[in-house]
Amino acid sequence: AAIMKGKFDHFMQKEIYEQPESVVNTMRGRVNFDEYRITLGGLRSYLPIIRRGRRIVFCACGTSYHSALATRAMFEELTEIPVSVELASDFLDRKTPIFRDDVCIFVSQSGETADTILAMKYCLERGALCVGIVNTVGSTISRETHCGIHINAGPEVGVASTKAYTSQYVALVLMALQLSEDRISFTERRNAILDGLRALPAQIKQVLDSDSSLRELANTVLANQRSLLLMGRGYQHATCLEGALKIKEISYMHSEGILAGELKHGPLALIDENMPVIIVMTQDSLYPKVQSAFSQITARKAQPIVICNEGDDGIKQGVKTIRVPKTVDVLQGLLNIIPLQLLSYHLAVKNGFDVDFPRNLAKSVTTE
Ligand code: G6P
Repeated sequence: AAIMKGKFDHFMQKEIYEQPESVVNTMRGRVNFDEYRITLGGLRSYLPIIRRGRRIVFCACGTSYHSALATRAMFEELTEIPVSVELASDFLDRKTPIFRDDVCIFVSQSGETADTILAMKYCLERGALCVGIVNTVGSTISRETHCGIHINAGPEVGVASTKAYTSQYVALVLMALQLSEDRISFTERRNAILDGLRALPAQIKQVLDSDSSLRELANTVLANQRSLLLMGRGYQHATCLEGALKIKEISYMHSEGILAGELKHGPLALIDENMPVIIVMTQDSLYPKVQSAFSQITARKAQPIVICNEGDDGIKQGVKTIRVPKTVDVLQGLLNIIPLQLLSYHLAVKNGFDVDFPRNLAKSVTTE
């Protein structure tokens, strides 16, 4: 059946708005919230092998790479297996050593990205266990990996990936939870994450409700700017990279995601009263460190827009804020990315650009 935009102006907008449902579709039939149990049928017989793996190597491109980065710390925490996250093209360029006891996870919306497929073939030849985290059923990566998870986000048409990102993120959270299910010491932590997943759809809806103020921001403060820096650290570094990618892809504005911890090693030189900055400062254990990054840039006269939690009264009067509901640290990136998706969308619309089919880009890049 033809996929329709319905009441929306663009597929990307429709897909952003679908996220309260698409994340539910990722969890459907897999999560029992009352008993705090996860069942990922597509991994079942491979779970013991994955748990015995000596390391986990994620391999992906673009937005899919960011979903792996966003969940890396949680994987390390819950599995206690070392995790690396690789860009597929670079992974191949380096001819990285891969062994039989490696677990290689390929994240791909389409399942047809050439670089990721080549990386998968490379790992299959070396005898590693290959796992696919894929949206498109029947795609090359879903067929040729040993096991995996379909993210079930539904077809994504907009070239700029939105709902696939949040569903990949959720699928990876489920996978880490499943891998750690027999670890008694993690029970409380796992249950807190599951409670967060249960509340997620309603919280995403709440973020979507702030759309008109984001459009306003795109049409005023950020309109006609040449550049935009996004800063954060820890879990939110991936949010900044993904937000910057959205902005580049469809609004053609230069945008960079910066790890706030690296500020003093270079990016601080870019900061003055004219440099637009968004800083992600939601309340997790790194909050004080991000506050200090905030002070460093305001001391240089920048006027950052702050993505922060509702009810956080530590933000100075007069500072522009984008408020998001609070959730458990590992899930906060699922909420924080949504205002950035909407901002990029409104920037592109304002400039009259082709939101769903940005120049020079393809939804699925099937050549190396
Ligand atoms: C292309 C698309 C991106 C996507 C990337 C990876 O560059 O324009 O939106 O993130 O490929 O695609 P995949 O299908 O492997 O997730």
